Amino acid sequence: MKIGIIGCGNIANAFHIPCYLKNGKVEIKYFCDILPERAENAVKKYGCGIAVTDYKAVLADSEIEAVSICTPNKMHSVIAIDALKAGKNVLCEKPAARVYSEALEMQKAQHESGKVLNIGVVNRFNTGINKIKQIIDSGELGEIYQVYVSFRAYRSIPGLGGDFTNKAVAGGGVLIDWGVHYFDIVMYCCSDPKIKTVSSEQFKKLGNPIDEYVYVNMWAGPPKADGVNDVEEGITGLIRTEGPVITFNGAWAQNIGEGETYIDFIGTKGGIRLNYAKDFVMYSTKSGMLTKTTFQMNEGMEFGPMFQNEINSFVECIETGKTLPSHIDTNIITAQMLDAIYRSAEEHREIKLD
Ligand SMILES: NC(=O)c1ccc[n+]([C@@H]2O[C@H](COP(=O)([O-])OP(=O)(O)OC[C@H]3O[C@@H](n4cnc5c(N)ncnc54)[C@H](O)[C@@H]3O)[C@@H](O)[C@H]2O)c1
Repeated sequence: MKIGIIGCGNIANAFHIPCYLKNGKVEIKYFCDILPERAENAVKKYGCGIAVTDYKAVLADSEIEAVSICTPNKMHSVIAIDALKAGKNVLCEKPAARVYSEALEMQKAQHESGKVLNIGVVNRFNTGINKIKQIIDSGELGEIYQVYVSFRAYRSIPGLGGDFTNKAVAGGGVLIDWGVHYFDIVMYCCSDPKIKTVSSEQFKKLGNPIDEYVYVNMWAGPPKADGVNDVEEGITGLIRTEGPVITFNGAWAQNIGEGETYIDFIGTKGGIRLNYAKDFVMYSTKSGMLTKTTFQMNEGMEFGPMFQNEINSFVECIETGKTLPSHIDTNIITAQMLDAIYRSAEEHREIKLD
């Protein structure tokens, strides 16, 4: 199967490209990036493929069956829709798009083309997350009545002034970049409870002026003093669903020197704390005693292989027609949720969803 990589930056080099190369059924025919040196470097580094700067050249090749879209968020819907219309199968990095309306357009193009459109909600391919879902589905924790979500870091902010902090490019800040993974896990493990109301507030207190910002971590590049930082670095809120109440606190940056990245699934019989990208602990009772169970992350259970699982599943679903849990139809629910969170924060009021 011949495929094209569109966007040859961090995530492409860290996971998509190496995972396709390990897959065995795939040949990478194109490396595409608007920065020619990135595409050319990939050709040299991986010893295969053709370097191009225009994604339309990839889509015009009838041999290409699928593409991975690893560009900044603002290009996700544009490239995905063009690719689907050109008859290609698509794995598009998360978030699906900057805003819900763009995600709906992507969904429409998928339905019309009948081609695959999966979003890079990679946690759905993690064995540990699937075990949590299995435990919740089995009823072992009783009724899950609250889920508490924390994605808080001490003074970081990715590439301050660059694509990640520019609303026109990214669509938002910590919620759309980090929160999207956390809410996706919640919705997946709790089987997509219908959302009733969303109430939130966002914070844009840190990071300006850019050149005066003091930080401990600046993943995604050093600050760009003349860049744009107009997204939220912090967000908090409450979501009522027909299942659990979801409460959340997220921050790329805050003046508390602790990172807290976990999801608590709180049930009537027991609870699970998922330490994001690490492991999980289950609290329950047995024979009148309290229990605290830790789970060993055996080979394949750790978070590392989830990207390989995601790529292998993408290739397999193109061959077999199987629908994956990362299909745009499931992802659209989280896209709507994020949209309501942002609307609530911008309008300082509760949003009701039908
Ligand atoms: N699944 C995850 O956990 C995860 C982790 C990191 C990033 N991501 C997502 O991956 C995407 C890319 O993030 P990144 O960190 O790799 O960013 P990056 O800036 O390192 O790479 C993006 C690349 O896309 C290129 N590009 C921009 N417009 C293009 C276009 N029109 N055609 C071709 N190439 C184009 C850029 O030149 C750049 O090389 C983002 O949407 C991000 O949210 C997902």
